[in-house]
Amino acid sequence: MTAEHSVADDKEQAVTDEVLASFDDTGDPRLRTVMRSLVRHLHAFAREVRLTEQEWNAAIEFLTRAGHITDERRQEFVLLSDVLGLSTLAVAINEPKTRGATEGTVLGPFFVEDSPEVPLGGDIARGAVGTPCYVSGHVRCLDGTPVSGARLDVWGADEDGFYDVQYPGDRSAARGRLRTGPDGAYRFWTVLPTPYPIPHDGPVGDLLTAAGRTPMRPAHLHFKVTAPGRRALVTHLFVAGDPHLGRDAVFGVKDSLVVEAEHHTAGPAPDGSQPQGTWTSMSFDLVLVPDEDS
Ligand code: BEZ
Ligand code: FE
Repeated sequence: MTAEHSVADDKEQAVTDEVLASFDDTGDPRLRTVMRSLVRHLHAFAREVRLTEQEWNAAIEFLTRAGHITDERRQEFVLLSDVLGLSTLAVAINEPKTRGATEGTVLGPFFVEDSPEVPLGGDIARGAVGTPCYVSGHVRCLDGTPVSGARLDVWGADEDGFYDVQYPGDRSAARGRLRTGPDGAYRFWTVLPTPYPIPHDGPVGDLLTAAGRTPMRPAHLHFKVTAPGRRALVTHLFVAGDPHLGRDAVFGVKDSLVVEAEHHTAGPAPDGSQPQGTWTSMSFDLVLVPDEDS
């Protein structure tokens, strides 16, 4: 290494050291640790790629566009975290590593608090287009004990790959809240999920295009399960055989969450109803771990 290089390295390191030292008096020790680590890694990244000022400008423009497109219905920064795998990594870091527990995955942008309550066995489709799908299973503890009264929030895209909240107006469809029965069982009707693209008309979509990556997510149904004394579980059921399973735009697929959809040409359905035309069914058990904080 030449003397010139070493002076340049020293100058760069001096910037990093000065910024690190600026966090020395941070009152919250966790914030101090996180910010110092962020600075170390961010600066190391800039050095590694020899970041040009043009690239720095492009990054600022990208983030500015992300800010401008973000509103109460669209969150481009979470989408960016999703396509960088950060959301899935955060789930992996934080979820219990208990064998037998249902794995979690990303929440996604289409969760709605207080979705309509439906009775056990009810239909959450409420006008969503698609092939009827009967979804059933049990919510259990690790030792197999049924969790009765667990609250399930369920939401999915329709046959055209859109969630209700992506349509104008405030129609609620393919979304609902129900509770498990005394035996921990749940069941409901919805529409068979289909693959769909994540919102890709903004800067994150442009990034995917530039990288030659797909915006598609494999067909899935979202679940958020809560029960007293149990850790909340945010997960998906993925439909087996979907060609996008191996290249989910947000890296959310776990093998343990992939379920076969059975196709039926005639009734009766498990609940005794006689669906008109073809229908499908999927079965998915959810295993919750104790909530350490409760
Ligand atoms: C979703 O599955 O709803 C989703 C997840 C991450 C980004 C976009 C959509
Ligand atoms: Fe989704």
